[in-house]
Amino acid sequence: MGNLENAVIQAVRCLEGTFGLAVIHKNEDKIVVAKKGSPLIIGVGENEMFVASDVAPILEYTKKAIYLNDNEIATIKKNEYSIQDLSGNNIDKKIHEIKWAVDQIEKSGFKHFMLKEIFEQPDAIKNVLRGRIKNNKIKLSVNVDLNSVERIIIIACGTSWHAALIGKYLIEKITGISVEVDYASEFRYRKPIIKEGDLVIVVSQSGETTDTLAALKEAKSKKAKTIGFVNVVGSTIAREVDSGIYLHAGPEIGVASTKAFLCQIVTLLLFALFMKQERGFDLDEELLKELGKIPNKIKQVLVESDNIKHIAEKFKDAKNFLYLGRGINFPVGLEGALKLKEISYIHAEGYPAAEMKHGPIALVDKNMPVVFVASKDHTYEKILSNMQEIKARQGRIIAVVNEHDEKLNHLVENIFKVPITRNELSPIINVIPLQLLAYHIADLKGIDVDKPRNLAKSVTVE
Ligand code: AGP
Repeated sequence: MGNLENAVIQAVRCLEGTFGLAVIHKNEDKIVVAKKGSPLIIGVGENEMFVASDVAPILEYTKKAIYLNDNEIATIKKNEYSIQDLSGNNIDKKIHEIKWAVDQIEKSGFKHFMLKEIFEQPDAIKNVLRGRIKNNKIKLSVNVDLNSVERIIIIACGTSWHAALIGKYLIEKITGISVEVDYASEFRYRKPIIKEGDLVIVVSQSGETTDTLAALKEAKSKKAKTIGFVNVVGSTIAREVDSGIYLHAGPEIGVASTKAFLCQIVTLLLFALFMKQERGFDLDEELLKELGKIPNKIKQVLVESDNIKHIAEKFKDAKNFLYLGRGINFPVGLEGALKLKEISYIHAEGYPAAEMKHGPIALVDKNMPVVFVASKDHTYEKILSNMQEIKARQGRIIAVVNEHDEKLNHLVENIFKVPITRNELSPIINVIPLQLLAYHIADLKGIDVDKPRNLAKSVTVE
């Protein structure tokens, strides 16, 4: 008679591509698991064991996790496990203790995890900042020589890619170092040029996104220095990078990323400031002071949730939305549009506001809601004329503006007023009403907000 482990080993040797396998046989009381490229973890419980692609689903049952590597085969029984390499040799693996608390993975009275996570954002920001700013100095443990960095490439997918775009504005403004942002899936296949002095930053909530991981491996194969901004401690990307900064957002269960996005922006900002400091420059104390005020300013937006719900009622049956912003708030428009389409299934597009006249304006009529992010910065007057163009075509304008801004009242159908902050920090505040708008529209449509169709929390396929 054959042996299940040997059969899996032989099969794995023949397989091409990426996979995570859990194999059972009707005569055997065990599960044999193997992986390549895709993440696979084993949860070690009391009289029970788990197999998952991420720690979040097992947290309720156990805090002990083993991360399987490529070309390792694990045999799991109710009370024991063993791990072998493809030659059948036994391997000893470390059991990781997951630090997240159970109440962090409960809804705590909120209707959905997404809503809870939106409301957790003030605390999430406090956590990402904790211990990292002291006496106007940034404290990060980055084990990569930053002084020789001449160019930065940031790689990510989805919402993390939007955070990366905001990171580009921040790093270039604060350090003067040129930054490129690439979709991980494009980076890995376009034979990217990596030179000495290049630093590759990968941004990922889960730390398990297959495209991002593959792009990271491509960067490493070209000898780039790599840093990861990751939320999930011990995840594959966190283990693969030369150095890392954890986001400390806590577990994010809702498929639509919210609090991790904010923590990514703050981490990118801290990193930009750290680079400046490492190069011998003084930091902008006013900016650091204002950063400390951000959690309270987010709370001022969150109390408007019910008002935003009223606006959501008006727009829930729209078929399309446009989101427009400029400068550092252009990616906020992209993120607002992504949130809406992910969870409400309404088609939405984000554009730099000035690009609208190059095509999307053809879509505008009395049925088109257009969401503007219109903070008072150097692009404000330009945004105002973009709004007039939409108004002239009877588009329905919803605007996120600074408090006390009365100038736009005559142009807009609905307005969200948010506290004034520094331009560098404005995306953190401006995205909150857009998260809530998407959430309320999706909830009013009766959609399972935390598990929207066709989406997964960790995208472990190419
Ligand atoms: C965000 O709402 C999405 N679910 C998705 O775009 C996500 O940001 C993307 O898949 C990247 O995930 P990561 O941050 O875990 O790498």
